[in-house]
Amino acid sequence: MEPIDGKKLSSTIKEEIAREVEEIKQAGGKVPHLVAVLVGHDPASETYVNNKEKACNKVGIESEVIRLEESISQEELLNKVDELNNDPKVDGFIVQLPLPDHIDEQKVIEAVDPKKDVDGFHPVNMGRMVLGLPAYLPATPAGILEMLKRYNIETEGKDCVVLGRSNIVGKPVANLMLQKTTPGNCTVTVCHSRTKNLEQVLAKADILIVAMGKMEFVTADMVKEGAVVIDVGIHRIRSDKTKSGWKLKGDVKFDEVKGKASYITPVPGGVGPMTIVSLLKNTIAASQGRIYG
Ligand code: GUN
Repeated sequence: MEPIDGKKLSSTIKEEIAREVEEIKQAGGKVPHLVAVLVGHDPASETYVNNKEKACNKVGIESEVIRLEESISQEELLNKVDELNNDPKVDGFIVQLPLPDHIDEQKVIEAVDPKKDVDGFHPVNMGRMVLGLPAYLPATPAGILEMLKRYNIETEGKDCVVLGRSNIVGKPVANLMLQKTTPGNCTVTVCHSRTKNLEQVLAKADILIVAMGKMEFVTADMVKEGAVVIDVGIHRIRSDKTKSGWKLKGDVKFDEVKGKASYITPVPGGVGPMTIVSLLKNTIAASQGRIYG
């Protein structure tokens, strides 16, 4: 078994990105500028946004966090989105999800100008991705493909099973693994809460991507010998063995599944750090007009 070190790989890619940003600066180009909008005080969202800001600083991308109160109205948030759409300084922006219940998330996603939608969540970007056209790809799925690529993991003709059908991970990653690309060219099956005979489907998986949000759901008996296992889950539990008093777990029972997998991503230090790298790449693409000119 080889653990996939997302932390190390993301550091290497961040160094590459830093060099690219430096070259853009040297050539007199526009310094890429990313804005993250954070509504409310969800602790996980705070952490994600802080990590995104730190990563931008590290690679020389200008970044800004706009913090808005939980009580903000949908209209006020849509106005803010409009302002960012029209601000020439801003190359790309994200509105961190989830949003409070009184705000229609889809409305906000669709209000973002697709040219600045570095999350790749707008239907125009999702649609272009499905068609195999240039698009901003959602960060987590793109990070997973980058990992497979950098580890030279063969995907062509393989049976890829995706566990979970969210708009952010399951649906887009299933689509990307289906594309006529490398990585890609898989036979893809998407499983979810209504799937019958889950064990039978999982037993065929050469590549298993788990993004269902159930802690340690996937156990060794469900995994084919030699499978590549990608764990997108992230769960915070109390622990008296760590300094912080918390410990992170994935959707996969790592300690037992690692004995059967050929490659496996740990939690933390697997998919998570790769997600941020994808966002940085999308921001550079936005500043350079690489998708929409
Ligand atoms: N919430 C969880 N993942 C994401 C993401 O990739 N982007 C945004 N905007 N919110 C998220």
